[in-house]
Amino acid sequence: MSILSVENVNKNFGGLRALNNVNLEVEAGTVHAIIGPNGAGKSTLLNCFVGRLEPDTGTVLFNGQSLLGLKPHQINQTGVSRVFQTPEIFDDMTLLENVTIPALAKRDGSFRLNAWRAVRDESKIHEAAHECLADVGLGEKSQELARQLSRGDKRRLELAMCLVQDPKLLLLDEPTAGMSRADTNNTIDLMRRIADQGVTMVVIEHDMHVVFSLADKISVLAQGTVIAEDIPDRIKGDARVQEAYLGGAHL
Ligand SMILES: Nc1ncnc2c1ncn2[C@@H]1O[C@H](COP(=O)(O)OP(=O)(O)OP(=O)(O)O)[C@@H](O)[C@H]1O
Ligand SMILES: [Mg+2]
Repeated sequence: MSILSVENVNKNFGGLRALNNVNLEVEAGTVHAIIGPNGAGKSTLLNCFVGRLEPDTGTVLFNGQSLLGLKPHQINQTGVSRVFQTPEIFDDMTLLENVTIPALAKRDGSFRLNAWRAVRDESKIHEAAHECLADVGLGEKSQELARQLSRGDKRRLELAMCLVQDPKLLLLDEPTAGMSRADTNNTIDLMRRIADQGVTMVVIEHDMHVVFSLADKISVLAQGTVIAEDIPDRIKGDARVQEAYLGGAHL
């Protein structure tokens, strides 16, 4: 059964056709990777799922419900959490405070600036935030300021900020970009554990090691169009994909 169903989505920026009749079905309980060259429209597509952008035409259904016209926080409350291409964390807050904010946002539908009070007073949220930090391997650092984290740890913090929302669908835009090989492998393990808990994931990634380690299915975007969608083994051998994605080099 599809948890996310995307039909005929188009998005233009001025004269540029960033998304051209995109169709995508994400099966519940799977990891669905979206790959494609720089500028293919991957982030634009993800932004259409979370309410940051509105498609010009087309439909986006989550569990059969249209997401179009909903505000980002409303989409978030339906069970969709995301990590964007550029980290979005609060540098001057502790890790614990960072994780508390999305927990409150999911619950209340708004960001409350007195997150620190919740950390002190609301033990359930406090506990959940601690648990999620421990899950991603940052339990020891809960009182450190986010700005002090390495790039890999910042990505892990963002994953904890998603997990605390208990998402049904997790959208990740280049979760391992800029990470060391060791951090990347730790992140693959972490994503595998999250997937094994039944969370459906859509992962945009350039790192083929990550893609082929995790994906149940791969959609290939090129110039705003899905040029192939298949299981990893078949994508590897697809001549159109080789050509569009790597200019003829082998995956
Ligand atoms: N807000 C915007 N206004 C105008 N053009 C945009 C905007 N956002 C994206 N674009 C353009 O749309 C196209 C698709 O961009 P997008 O960021 O979705 O690509 P991408 O596949 O995520 O690339 P990358 O792999 O480099 O992250 C690009 O040509 C980009 O320059
Ligand atoms: Mg992008």
